[in-house]
Amino acid sequence: MACSENMFFLIVLFMSGVLACFGQRDLIATMPDKLDGLTGSCVEIPCSFDIPEQHKDKFNSAIQTSGVWIKESPQFGGSPDNVIFNSSETVNRYQGNITGNMSQKYCTTVLFNVTTSYTNRYFFRIESQPFRATDNEKSVKIVVRDLPSSPNITVSGEVKEGTPVSLNCFAVAPCPEHPPELTWTLPTQFTTEKQLHENPDLTKSVLSMVTFTPSYLHHEKNITCTAVYPVGTSNKTAEHNMMLNVSFSPKNTSASISPADPVLVGSCVNLTCSSTANPPVTNFTWFQISGDKRIQVASGLSYSLNVTVGDGGLYFCEARNSQGCGKSKEVQLAIKEPKTSMVVGVAAGTLGAFLFISLISVFVWRRNSRLHDGLESTDNPQGQNSPVGTVCANQATAGEEPEEPAEDQSEEIHYGDIDFSKLQPKETPAAAQDRVQGQESEYAEVNVTGRGDKVQHRNNLDGLYAQVN
Ligand SMILES: *[C@@H]1O[C@H](CO)[C@@H](O)[C@H](O)[C@H]1NC(C)=O
Ligand SMILES: *[C@@H]1O[C@H](CO)[C@@H](O)[C@H](O)[C@H]1NC(C)=O
Ligand SMILES: *[C@@H]1O[C@H](CO)[C@@H](O)[C@H](O)[C@H]1NC(C)=O
Ligand SMILES: *[C@@H]1O[C@H](CO)[C@@H](O)[C@H](O)[C@H]1NC(C)=O
Ligand SMILES: *[C@@H]1O[C@H](CO)[C@@H](O)[C@H](O)[C@H]1NC(C)=O
Ligand SMILES: *[C@@H]1O[C@H](CO)[C@@H](O)[C@H](O)[C@H]1NC(C)=O
Ligand SMILES: *[C@@H]1O[C@H](CO)[C@@H](O)[C@H](O)[C@H]1NC(C)=O
Ligand SMILES: *[C@@H]1O[C@H](CO)[C@@H](O)[C@H](O)[C@H]1NC(C)=O
Ligand SMILES: *[C@@H]1O[C@H](CO)[C@@H](O)[C@H](O)[C@H]1NC(C)=O
Ligand SMILES: *[C@@H]1O[C@H](CO)[C@@H](O)[C@H](O)[C@H]1NC(C)=O
Ligand SMILES: *[C@@H]1O[C@H](CO)[C@@H](O)[C@H](O)[C@H]1NC(C)=O
Repeated sequence: MACSENMFFLIVLFMSGVLACFGQRDLIATMPDKLDGLTGSCVEIPCSFDIPEQHKDKFNSAIQTSGVWIKESPQFGGSPDNVIFNSSETVNRYQGNITGNMSQKYCTTVLFNVTTSYTNRYFFRIESQPFRATDNEKSVKIVVRDLPSSPNITVSGEVKEGTPVSLNCFAVAPCPEHPPELTWTLPTQFTTEKQLHENPDLTKSVLSMVTFTPSYLHHEKNITCTAVYPVGTSNKTAEHNMMLNVSFSPKNTSASISPADPVLVGSCVNLTCSSTANPPVTNFTWFQISGDKRIQVASGLSYSLNVTVGDGGLYFCEARNSQGCGKSKEVQLAIKEPKTSMVVGVAAGTLGAFLFISLISVFVWRRNSRLHDGLESTDNPQGQNSPVGTVCANQATAGEEPEEPAEDQSEEIHYGDIDFSKLQPKETPAAAQDRVQGQESEYAEVNVTGRGDKVQHRNNLDGLYAQVN
């Protein structure tokens, strides 16, 4: 029981201490802990007061009550200069005005034309007949700066492509009579809505809400909220930059095949999928098109296979993340099959010669533009050209070709059809050079065109080829 007795005394001691504390407080002022001011502008101090119970009888709201602001310390006896505002005086150290209705216990005060020297703590005091009291516990810290503080941007909810999203920009308005003007800079169309917002501590902010519909093109783009504070005849600005993080389903999904040229059965081929997505792709899936069906053949960024006869055909990949999926264009895995070449070759040779000559000029012209298209067009050649164009026979073997010039290799398809490099040993160095020097192969192709008649040799040599194999 000794324990609970001790507790009791402790509680009594604590309560009396609290009461003593409140007892000493002759006035209870309510105001923010801290305010930010801007040089040359005004500062409004939201303020109200109350009379503690023990003094209630001494305060008469019907009697004219004046408000006094004291800086630094509530005791001004020794330093009367600390009394910076007294509503009974016509001239004060600080220019200001008590805008609150004192008889309703509102003491909201506006200080005009503040400067950095105003940065201090301020106490409030009331003076009436006969009651005079200072709240020596509560003070407001005013910090005046030459430049405004930056506004805040908050995002409510997820920023997802295609889903309208709202962002809020808050800027403090220490001088509500001259609030800042908020403007947005966004990479897209938007609508805004603004309002003067009262914070829990009764200070004011200007709130501007912007609504827009993000697209994946806005990912990692900056948005800015700019606050323009009118100060006298000029403006002071502060801004907040934010980089958008837009969640989007896989985009620019493309499949590439390495080596790009037709391969012999038994060689290794890599199919690689690429895509941009946020969050990153979690699942790549490979499909082969068989007739009008799509058959899932693998999952993973790349699909490596040791080619068998049945593997030839069209493939595409699908990239998936939490936002959805993207599908690549189809790529052709072409298999060099000597026997087929012979049968088709005889028939197609003559026709091919015509097609080839007429297509060459088109390709030379198109290549020029495509070469500048960058990586994304990796899967375009197959997508844009007829599948016939991709059936070809280059001498590339697995792993021999660098991956980057894949685009050029798929173009070389056309010599492949003729297979000069094999037929005419003299051509081999040139052909090899073509492969190394991507762009120069254009000229090589032109040369080949000039030898259209030599295509005829193909038939004979196809037979030879077949025999060799
Ligand atoms: C405020 O002004 C009144 C009238 O001049 C004066 O009587 C009073 O003492 C002043 N209060 C303070 C704290 O200086
Ligand atoms: C002080 O505030 C009151 C009430 O808002 C207003 O009527 C008065 O004109 C103001 N005085 C000055 C000097 O701004
Ligand atoms: C202040 O409040 C009193 C009492 O409610 C009222 O009579 C007076 O008109 C108010 N003064 C102003 C300036 O609003
Ligand atoms: C504000 O204060 C500055 C210097 O203290 C003074 O030059 C200026 O005239 C004042 N402006 C107003 C509107 O009182
Ligand atoms: C800005 O955000 C910070 C951190 O969340 C907060 O402390 C500050 O009060 C905010 N300012 C405004 C003007 O809302
Ligand atoms: C200040 O900004 C406002 C818009 O917020 C603009 O209309 C005004 O022309 C600007 N004044 C100066 C002096 O730049
Ligand atoms: C985007 O904002 C960052 C700071 O948040 C800045 O460093 C960058 O230069 C800005 N980029 C553009 C394009 O404005
Ligand atoms: C491909 O498979 C065949 C038969 O299984 C094998 O002989 C050949 O070495 C393999 N090729 C590669 C490059 O793995
Ligand atoms: C952007 O958002 C994605 C998905 O919501 C998240 O995984 C990633 O960490 C975010 N990045 C940044 C820089 O916030
Ligand atoms: C990837 O997606 C495919 C097809 O939707 C599914 O069969 C496979 O299980 C998925 N893999 C993972 C690791 O989620
Ligand atoms: C296929 O990809 C694997 C792993 O990325 C690599 O080790 C291999 O050399 C590639 N093969 C070819 C033929 O590109």
